[in-house]
Amino acid sequence: MRSAQSLRAICSLLILSAGSAASGDADAAIENANHIFNVIHDSMRQWGSSLHHNGVSFFLATVPAGTQLYHGTSKSTPVNGTEWLAFEPEHAMVFARPHRGPPPRQPDEGDDDENDRGHRDELRRRQPHGPGNGPPGPLPHVEAVDENDSGYLHIYATTKDLRLVYIDGMSAAKTTKGTLDSQDVLLFNNTLDDSPKEGQRGPMGESERAKKACEMAENEWDGHIDGVLRMEAGFEIILCAFERGLTPLRITQVKSDSRARGQGGRTNDRHAGPREDDGKRKGPPHGGPGHGSSRWMRAVSARYGGIGGNRVSINYENFVTAFSHDLDLFPEDSPLPRLGHLPSSELDAVRKELTARILAQDATGSPRNWQAITDMIVTRYADELSYLVSGNFTDAKSLHDHIEILLSPFIDYSARNTSLETERCATQFLPLETQDSQLLAARAVHSVAHSVCSTLLAAWGEEELDSAVRTIQALIDHLDWTTWKECRGCEVNEICVVPIWPEGTVSDYENPQCREASNPYEGDGESYWGGMHH
Ligand SMILES: *[C@@H]1O[C@H](CO)[C@@H](O)[C@H](O)[C@H]1NC(C)=O
Ligand SMILES: *[C@@H]1O[C@H](CO)[C@@H](O)[C@H](O)[C@H]1NC(C)=O
Ligand SMILES: *[C@@H]1O[C@H](CO)[C@@H](O)[C@H](O)[C@H]1NC(C)=O
Ligand SMILES: *[C@@H]1O[C@H](CO)[C@@H](O)[C@H](O)[C@H]1NC(C)=O
Ligand SMILES: *[C@@H]1O[C@H](CO)[C@@H](O)[C@H](O)[C@H]1NC(C)=O
Repeated sequence: MRSAQSLRAICSLLILSAGSAASGDADAAIENANHIFNVIHDSMRQWGSSLHHNGVSFFLATVPAGTQLYHGTSKSTPVNGTEWLAFEPEHAMVFARPHRGPPPRQPDEGDDDENDRGHRDELRRRQPHGPGNGPPGPLPHVEAVDENDSGYLHIYATTKDLRLVYIDGMSAAKTTKGTLDSQDVLLFNNTLDDSPKEGQRGPMGESERAKKACEMAENEWDGHIDGVLRMEAGFEIILCAFERGLTPLRITQVKSDSRARGQGGRTNDRHAGPREDDGKRKGPPHGGPGHGSSRWMRAVSARYGGIGGNRVSINYENFVTAFSHDLDLFPEDSPLPRLGHLPSSELDAVRKELTARILAQDATGSPRNWQAITDMIVTRYADELSYLVSGNFTDAKSLHDHIEILLSPFIDYSARNTSLETERCATQFLPLETQDSQLLAARAVHSVAHSVCSTLLAAWGEEELDSAVRTIQALIDHLDWTTWKECRGCEVNEICVVPIWPEGTVSDYENPQCREASNPYEGDGESYWGGMHH
């Protein structure tokens, strides 16, 4: 029975590799099927992307026209040029604060870390005239003076479908743990200016990152892309040209925040994390980052399970991942993938594949939502697998009986046949026409479902309880679904706390717990993120 199964596995591998010319190496894709499955399942979710924070994948994403997006700034005039947009106002409000750069400079010149000098010049020029020949609809009420003690929340709506490259994982987190690898190493080929002045000037290279991404969008991607979509504590867009694709709805002055005053540090960092004195503190925070951050974290945790509202649609049939290439992504047993150790020639292939996909983007129907299919598999099996290893089965027979309950829909009791049963179980959630598909998503999902089903059958065949449980535990470790770290039953005033840069401890990562939402990161312990990225 065993050898028939492995023979079948080998055959299907051969069939798959024979049929797939397109994307990367077929063996690598099957080898990494568990990771690719998780890439799909974690995408656009604050929870899974916080735990699997090192993304090595790129998706084509669309934000539909009419979506409201938020920008926080010291300026009360609408933005032209490249800037950041958040999906949640609470995220943007962290940046809605007065500019407090080094005092001797002119207000405008002082803002060295603004990502787009040209945009600032434009702003200066246009200020006396208000928003100019702005977009249709009610113009926001704007103030001519904007460098005073106030911060402003800008609310924009998209006027067209924004075409974005979604860089997965926690790709807006300025860490040294690999969250930036897919940008700094893969997309930008280590050309980011990494000299010591970074950290003093740009907010940890963010202006340069935005500049480079937008240069790529314009040149390498031939204007097909409007910006990039990333995640930190909240999802955000770097939009290359606000004036193309947004209309301002409202610009409002936020409540001034005395807490942030008088620190003398760089508080104009546009994309620091919840703390304002980023770059200085190394250890875990004590007392948390204040009331603003509680507001922020509540909004962020509301999106643990997804950005919601179809505000982003991801093309799961046409994405690019280093996992489908034959690369050594886990050097020195790194728990999460890294790219920095790989020669640029190997990474070029991934970048070229991305460019090719962007340029070839065609409008053939609406792509299937493979994330929804991964959800069906995870929700069906996550608890069942946990239960099987929970220690509640005291003998092999009771364990076998439970596995039989799980698998009985796939068994023809008049003609037992393990390989048929495995395949029926593995294809339960696959739409018929995808079952022989060569699409990366289809192959990865099929392969993972097959592992779940064949492992259950194998455990059923084990006579010893211990070895059956070990077999299932090995599957759980291999699958590494982030669902298994979710808290259960938090109170209404609590959130489930996982490290989100720059907050959180090692134990928050290992074992996330429900915590008081007003002070989610008060726990003591070793910082998960270690030193800040400089
Ligand atoms: C900002 O962009 C709008 C729309 O393209 C344009 O009409 C306006 O002139 C720009 N403002 C400045 C100051 O360049
Ligand atoms: C900021 O400037 C605007 C425009 O002059 C003014 O209306 C507003 O009251 C100022 N805010 C503060 C806090 O001074
Ligand atoms: C990436 O950088 C390396 C080292 O500087 C260089 O040899 C290579 O040509 C670069 N690749 C591309 C595509 O620019
Ligand atoms: C395991 O059994 C104990 C005692 O019978 C029960 O309290 C517990 O809820 C069970 N755990 C699971 C995961 O079923
Ligand atoms: C199980 O079914 C497959 C496919 O129909 C067949 O090739 C194989 O011989 C069967 N195995 C057994 C043990 O009957």
